[in-house]
Amino acid sequence: NYIKAYAPATVANVACGFDIFGFAIEEPGDIVEITRTERPGIVIKDIFGDGGRLPREASKNAVTGVMLHLVEHLGLADFGAEVVLHKNMPLGSGMGSSAASSVAGIVALNALLDEPLSRNELLRFAMEGERIASGSAHADNVGPALLGGFVVIRSYDPLDVFTIPFPGDLYATLVHPDIEINTKDARYILRDEVSLKDTITQMGNVAGMISGLMQSDYELISRSMVDVIIEPVRSILIPQFGMVKQAAIEAGALGCSISGSGPSMFALSRGADTAQKVAKVMAEGFKQVGIDAHSHVSAI
Ligand code: HSE
Repeated sequence: NYIKAYAPATVANVACGFDIFGFAIEEPGDIVEITRTERPGIVIKDIFGDGGRLPREASKNAVTGVMLHLVEHLGLADFGAEVVLHKNMPLGSGMGSSAASSVAGIVALNALLDEPLSRNELLRFAMEGERIASGSAHADNVGPALLGGFVVIRSYDPLDVFTIPFPGDLYATLVHPDIEINTKDARYILRDEVSLKDTITQMGNVAGMISGLMQSDYELISRSMVDVIIEPVRSILIPQFGMVKQAAIEAGALGCSISGSGPSMFALSRGADTAQKVAKVMAEGFKQVGIDAHSHVSAI
């Protein structure tokens, strides 16, 4: 009658794949504890690590919001539970913070109910957590947080999600500058229309990225980590973006871009040592202008 679940931070978009690419890192991640109660209804007992900022009302919180959807879908009107969330990453960081919470929550609840749904079936419930948190039910954070590895969302309607193989020696560097950007705002500033020229460039890079990952072609991965649609708009919100990106490339990264909707930036590198070196120069880039930054290096 008690389950504890963990879900990791994720990097969405991965440069060229806005809303369609994402991968999971090992840590940090959020932890959700759920305990069954006699009394029907899902309530939040405690949230640690959010500085009191996340909603405590069950339907407005991404963790319990997704649980309510699942309980309703299963027709469990009498189900009751208390939920504790341990937030181990900053809000509005671009590290898939809300996704880690929603996924840990839905996985914990599904386990408590003896796994009525598969991981793939849980995805659309976890996506509702993103709708609660940011107004848009994108799957490029919840997908990898739930399924692990590198995830591609081929289609949203109908939902068609798959994972692809990637080289074993591929490491991610994730650097979080101590500023906040909420996903809703970062989506609002995007243009609705894209030129044919940019669409062609982006499609080429998406194809190259998938092929590069599947064939362990690091040069091709590197050439494909280019985003001509979203990054030019959003990078304006990140102080030092150009300088940090250049420093990452000079330190040996295959590529560097915005993680999700920012302000975190990520880089991919061949080998852990290079990824560590890249982490150092990226964090220093932010610190040069007085912005504190934390870095994480992880196999993907
Ligand atoms: N694809 C989403 C976006 C991810 O970039 O808005 C948000 O983390």
